[in-house]
Formats: sequence, structure tokens, C-alpha cells
Amino acid sequence: MIKHHYFLNVEHNQNDYFTFSDYFLNEKYTFNSCSDIFSKDCIDYGTSVLLKTVINNLNLNGTVLDVGCGYGVIGIILKKYFSSINVVMLDINKTAVQLTKENCILNNVDAIVLESNLYDKIDKKVNNIVTNPPIKAGKENLFNVVSGAFNVLENNGTITLVIKKKHGMESLKNFMNQTFGNVQILKRDSGYYILHSVKTND
Ligand SMILES: C[S@@+](CC[C@H](N)C(=O)[O-])C[C@H]1O[C@@H](n2cnc3c(N)ncnc32)[C@H](O)[C@@H]1O
Repeated sequence: MIKHHYFLNVEHNQNDYFTFSDYFLNEKYTFNSCSDIFSKDCIDYGTSVLLKTVINNLNLNGTVLDVGCGYGVIGIILKKYFSSINVVMLDINKTAVQLTKENCILNNVDAIVLESNLYDKIDKKVNNIVTNPPIKAGKENLFNVVSGAFNVLENNGTITLVIKKKHGMESLKNFMNQTFGNVQILKRDSGYYILHSVKTND
């Protein structure tokens, strides 16, 4: 049997699609999903730690970008807590993009959803990036999430991401420090780390 990675574009048939509901902070969300998408039938634990940490610690404003949106969980939930933000979500995977568009409608959220290889389709600067970044597509792709962020963020813009210690947290943290000149651990929970950098100059 061929094992499909969730970031690759593959053909699906109708049986691959389904809908599930899950709770985040006692609120119910419903998502259309697909057999080979990341965390296909529940909100990922790391994503949930990331969202709680952002909601408790940051005051998001302006344009908030999710790089590698999957079926759209991060942007959809953030828009419920920060109603004034403009949400932009992107993914390289066509199915993810289509599901995110459907899930914005299902959950009554306005967002721009783009099919894009990392920041290729981002033509305006953004204020905050919140991401559970791609790990399986390799270290270079992962590090490009950070280096590309520096280019698309406004001054004083922030990147906040989740990574597991065993998935290379230490080296990603060092790379964020090297790129932005600062990095903070906002939260540790069950091996997941929430890392945060601020762009302080161009
Ligand atoms: C760890 S998943 C996170 C999904 C979702 N944000 C969540 O928290 O459940 C990473 C996502 O990044 C996407 N991805 C991988 N490489 C990418 C790239 N070069 N550009 C954009 N998205 C990419 C994958 O398709 C996948 O949906």
C-alpha cells in the first residue's frame, strides 16, 4: 500500500471525505476533513496548546497568517477570539485549501485562503504568523517557514509556532534567535514547545 504524506497533492474519491466535530475551550467546531490530512479527525494536541498560548498571552491585531493551514483550524479558532483580525491561511495542498474554504463557511469565519508554497503568494506584509509548521516535508522547508517569516512580517510583527522537542525544537529555536535576534519559550506542555519571536527591525 502506498502511504500518502499529508502535504502531497493526491487524488481522492468521495469516500475519503468526512465531517467531524471537536471542542476547543468548551466551544464546538465542525470541520470537513479527508483521510490523509494532518490530524484528520480531532484538533491536534500541539495545535491546541499553540492556540491556548496565543489566546492567553498575545494581543493579535492586523493580518494574521497561518502557514500550512491543513483544514483551517488555527485561523478559524483565532478569528473567534480576536474578532478584528484579518485571517489569511495558506497550504501547498489543494485538498487542504478546499477544506479550509469549506470550513470557513461551516464555522462562519471570513478569511483569505491561498494555495501557496510557503510565502510565494503573500504579496503584502502581515502582522502575526501563527503556525503548526510542516515537519514531515523536511528541515529545509521548516527553516524556510522562519526565514520567510522575517521577510513578510511588518516591524514589530511576531511569529509564534509549536514544535515538539523531539522534532528538532532546539535547532529551530536557535535558528529563530539567529534570524530575529530574539526567541522566547511561551509554554511547554507534554513535549510541545511554543516558540515566539518578534521582528524588531528590517
Ligand atoms: C503540521 S500540519 C498543520 C495543519 C494545521 N495548521 C493544524 O494545526 O492542524 C502542516 C501543514 O503544512 C502544509 N505544508 C507542507 N509543506 C508546505 C509548504 N511548502 N507550503 C505550504 N504548506 C505546506 C501541509 O500540507 C500541512 O497541511
